[in-house]
Amino acid sequence: MPKSAGYVSPQYLKMIAEIVRTFKVSTYDLMNIKKGDTVLDIGCGPGVDTIHLASYVGSDGKVFGVDIDEEMIELANKEADDKNVADIVQHKSGSLEKLPFENNSINACRAERLFQVIPSSVDRTPLFSELYRVMQPQGRVVIVDTDWATASVDFSDVATERTLMSFLAQKMRPDGFAGRSLKRFLIASGFNIVKLDAVTLVHRGLDETAFGEWLTSTALENNIITTTQAKNWLDELTEKSRNGNFYASVGSVIVVAEK
Ligand SMILES: C[S@@+](CC[C@H](N)C(=O)[O-])C[C@H]1O[C@@H](n2cnc3c(N)ncnc32)[C@H](O)[C@@H]1O
Repeated sequence: MPKSAGYVSPQYLKMIAEIVRTFKVSTYDLMNIKKGDTVLDIGCGPGVDTIHLASYVGSDGKVFGVDIDEEMIELANKEADDKNVADIVQHKSGSLEKLPFENNSINACRAERLFQVIPSSVDRTPLFSELYRVMQPQGRVVIVDTDWATASVDFSDVATERTLMSFLAQKMRPDGFAGRSLKRFLIASGFNIVKLDAVTLVHRGLDETAFGEWLTSTALENNIITTTQAKNWLDELTEKSRNGNFYASVGSVIVVAEK
């Protein structure tokens, strides 16, 4: 199985998971999980959510994680072993294009930051239909994704900041605006919307963000900014991180829906 188009390393996903853990827990609560349920996390990465969901389903339940990246699956299954929840939590390699589950077999499902790594050119209709297929009637899905148009960084040169944020959203993410279309695709595939919300996640240091070297070097390669702009950006934001003055934020859309 291939790596995803918008590949991010398991280490980065683990670091971000701990920074946004309170937010993640609020999305688990929205899944309405009961003891004994069968729960699915699509695009589970290295198991940053599945392990936490074990206590929600209890020893009579099952948590499945699916990811197209076999390295993520190996790490996730190792984590389940290490945390002694492997009898409840199992990770399988697979894709949202064809989920390895029977029709109507899943009580509750989540997918966080999955759609932003699936190129916007890929037709969403069969993907959301596949999600609908595996859900039990009244089964609940919680989909979370970023709208990178909301990214904001406190930087002295606003024009450069806007240029970089726009470049990141439009060119560096396979679907940088994934969050805004979730509701529409869920409705079109037959789900009923239960809740629609958006939260702003705040970052307190450059290291926590996607706005460091990765962004400036890609922008330089694409002639979006000059070397002076790139240097000024990294110098100022590194200094702000060091002295506690760093501020950046990005908005996430949360849609809760039922079959
Ligand atoms: C940005 S990561 C998010 C991981 C995790 N949900 C989290 O919150 O940290 C997106 C994950 O989706 C996986 N992925 C990409 N396309 C997929 C697909 N079509 N089906 C299943 N997983 C996919 C990637 O391999 C990656 O692990």
